[in-house]
Order: sequence, then structure tokens, then C-alpha cells
Amino acid sequence: MAGSREQFGSKLGFILAAAGSAVGIGNLVGFPVGAAKNGGGAFLLMYAIFVFFICLPVMIAEMSVGRASQKDPLGALTKLSNNNAGWRFAGWLSIVTPFMIAVFYLVITVWIFGYLYESVIGNLDLLAQPETFGTFINSPSLFIYMAGVIAVVYLILQGGVKQGIEKAAKILMPALFFMLLALVVFVLTRDNAFAGVEYYLVPDVSKINASVVNGALSQAFFSLSLGMGIMITYGSYIDRRADLPGSAKLVALTDTAVAFTAGLMILPAIFSFNPNVNPDELSESSISMIFSYLPQIFLEMQASFGYFGASVIASIFFLLVFFAAITSLVSIFEVPVAALMDEKGVSRKSSLMICGALLVVFSVFCALSFGFVGFFSEFVSYAGTNKSFFDVVYDVFYDTILPLNGLLICLFVIYRWKKSKFNEEIEQGAPSFKGSILERYVSFSLGTFIPLFLLLIFANTVALKYFGVALIGG
Ligand code: PHE
Repeated sequence: MAGSREQFGSKLGFILAAAGSAVGIGNLVGFPVGAAKNGGGAFLLMYAIFVFFICLPVMIAEMSVGRASQKDPLGALTKLSNNNAGWRFAGWLSIVTPFMIAVFYLVITVWIFGYLYESVIGNLDLLAQPETFGTFINSPSLFIYMAGVIAVVYLILQGGVKQGIEKAAKILMPALFFMLLALVVFVLTRDNAFAGVEYYLVPDVSKINASVVNGALSQAFFSLSLGMGIMITYGSYIDRRADLPGSAKLVALTDTAVAFTAGLMILPAIFSFNPNVNPDELSESSISMIFSYLPQIFLEMQASFGYFGASVIASIFFLLVFFAAITSLVSIFEVPVAALMDEKGVSRKSSLMICGALLVVFSVFCALSFGFVGFFSEFVSYAGTNKSFFDVVYDVFYDTILPLNGLLICLFVIYRWKKSKFNEEIEQGAPSFKGSILERYVSFSLGTFIPLFLLLIFANTVALKYFGVALIGG
């Protein structure tokens, strides 16, 4: 690469961009679905514990690997391990993972874009019907929406780091958060909403089992954009004088606040729209649930704002969600793009073209997985279940590889790069970190119970998902 590495314009710019990456469909869709499915309060409790005790140290580790090496994840692991072949493999994994996550993330972003379009043209009532989602994801117009989304991502990435990501995040993130808060207030004033608040906020610890733990952990990694080289890549764009642990804390807090608020909107809405819902049935919740509840929330607003007003509000909301998804998509996609530029010395433009073409191909396969094409819809079968191409990408990269990559980064930082160099790197820009409780916690946990725990989760997921055998609980 010619010249010096692109850098974020300011510390705030970095935090906003990292938070922009972290806040996305995972918070607004994945988290509420996970909470509904996994016992509400039990899930929330496990999630909060994981974010602060496991994910935060991993995030600090990733950011410092990026800043110390000033490289993409593959280059970073290669450089800091003195070209060790095993660690290079781990580096590859953290390039392939964000790429494959981008593949299914793009498909969900396309759905959001479609919902945005349909609300703008006045079809909110149609969207609120439960069957709509199933028909929508199998309609050919999906590919037109896909072309639109790809064009937006391409334009942002072509502009480079500073102009593209920073600008968008500064305005849209706060707007999204305030809109969410307003929606929470609206939902909480509906009948029976408090049954949902109770389900969400009062943990029933007897509900905590291996699948709740696994679900909460994968969701926390995904939501904080960990285990996929993103925080390494972003760390490589940040100034030596920046306070890494401080930034990581803010990113984790912002992300969790948004996810929590989204849950506080969706769970009460479920209980309010279905007063007789039996919480045990919620274990069947899926993404399609959100795609019918959100339009229903807006349709409810008709009584106060009329159909037109409700459609305008829905359109603004989907627009903000769409931008949150785009900032995330851009950040995932930046990893393979930057890696190809760094590793092969190609220009940003060529790298974008190559990665973009591959992304489109795989995403089209995913989009065809919902019944369009039999080959992709019933792609393989494991543990007694038929899986579509989309399911496979999701199972392998979201549920299985994220904790594995987290495990690898912990081992790398503490045992290969070494604790002392890691701490030295963080102390630059954060002198008060030296000797602090956080420092002791981070270096102890990253070298001991975090990797152990991640290994356990990884082994259990592999056994359960692919072989139908539960190592720990069901
Ligand atoms: N963390 C983002 C979200 O919650 C998604 C994401 C995943 C972003 C992976 C970047 C990388 O939606």
C-alpha cells in the first residue's frame, strides 16, 4: 500500500464508526428474537454477563492487535507471530468469517430495504399480515432490492474509511436510538404490554440451559462485531494516542443499550398483540416473527396518526434500520477488501470488484434458499434436519466459528504475542490502564477462563448442531 495507512479523523469518529459497525440487524432483530426464544429475562441476564465479562476483554484484545500491527487481521497475525503458519491460518479464518457473515447479512439487509420500499409506497397493511414475509422473501423483486443495496455499499466503500463510514454514523445512530425510545414508549402504553416487560426483565434462572448460554454468547459476539477481524481492522486505523479500553467500553455500552431497547420494544409488543401467548411457545420464535411484529406496531399507530402518518413513521424507522444495517455491512465487508489490498497489493477498486463479485454470487445462493431453488433450499442434512444454504452459512459462521475465533484471539494475544506486549500497547494512549483492576482482569481472564469457556461452547455447539449430541445439557 502506498503512503501511510488511512486513519479515522478523531477519537469520536472511531468510536462512532465502531459503534456503527456493532449496532445493526443483530441488535434490532437478532437480539429480540434471541430473547423471545430463549426465555426472556434468562437470556438478557446471560447476555449482559457475557458482554461485560467475556466480550469486552476480547474486544480490547482485537483492537490492540490491530493497532500494534497496523494491518488487516491476516497481516496482523502473521506479523505479530513472526510468520507462523498456524497463526496465519487463524488470520485466514478471520478474513473468511466476515466475508461469509456479509453473505447472509446482505440478504437480511435486502429484506429490510424491501420493507422500507413497501412502507414508502403505502403497503404497511400488507406487511403487517403474518404470511407476507414468507411470500416476500421468495419474490423475484428481491433481486432488484439486492442490486440497490450493493450499489449503496459499493459507493460508501469506494470513498474510503474517513468520508464514508464516519459521516453516516454521526447523524444516523443517535437518530435511530431516539426513535427506538419513542417506539418503546408507544408500545408500553398498549394493553397487556407489561406481561412482556415482566417476561423480559424478570429472569427465570431455571430456564438457563446450554442452548440459552450458547445463543446468548453467539449473539453477544455477533452484536459486538467480535471474532471476525472487524475490531482488528478498525484498531489498525486508530491513532496511537487513543484510549483503547475506554473506546471499547463505550462501544460495548452503546451496542448493549440499543439491543436492550429493541428488546423492550419487541417483547412487550408480542404480548400485547397476542394477549394469550404462552411463553413456552415463544421458543419457536424466528426472524420472520420480527418482520411481522414491526409492521403491526406501526399499523397500531393508525388510531392516533392515520394510515398515512403510520406509514411515514414506519418508513423513517425502516430507513434508520437500513442505515444501521448498511454501516454494519460496510464494516464486515471492509475486512476482506482491506486484506486483499494489503496482502496482494491490489488497488481498493480492484479489491472491491473481486470481493464484491464473490459476495453477490454467494448472497444470491442464500436468497434462493427459501424455496426458490430446491438445491439451495435443501442443501444438506445434518443432525436429522434438512438445512438450506442460508442455514448452513448461519450455523457454521454465526454459531460455530465466532466463539472459535474469539478463542484463537485470546490464545494469540496472551501466549503468542505475550501479555507484556499486549499491555504495553494498550497503555499507549491509556496510561491509567497500567496496574488498574481492569488490566489485571483483562490479562488474567484472556489467558484462563475465557478461552476455556469458549472452547467448551465451541465443542458443545459442534456436537449438538452437527451430530445431534448434547455434551452439556440440551
Ligand atoms: N454487529 C452487527 C449487528 O449486530 C453485525 C455485524 C456483524 C457487523 C459482523 C459487523 C460484523 O448487526
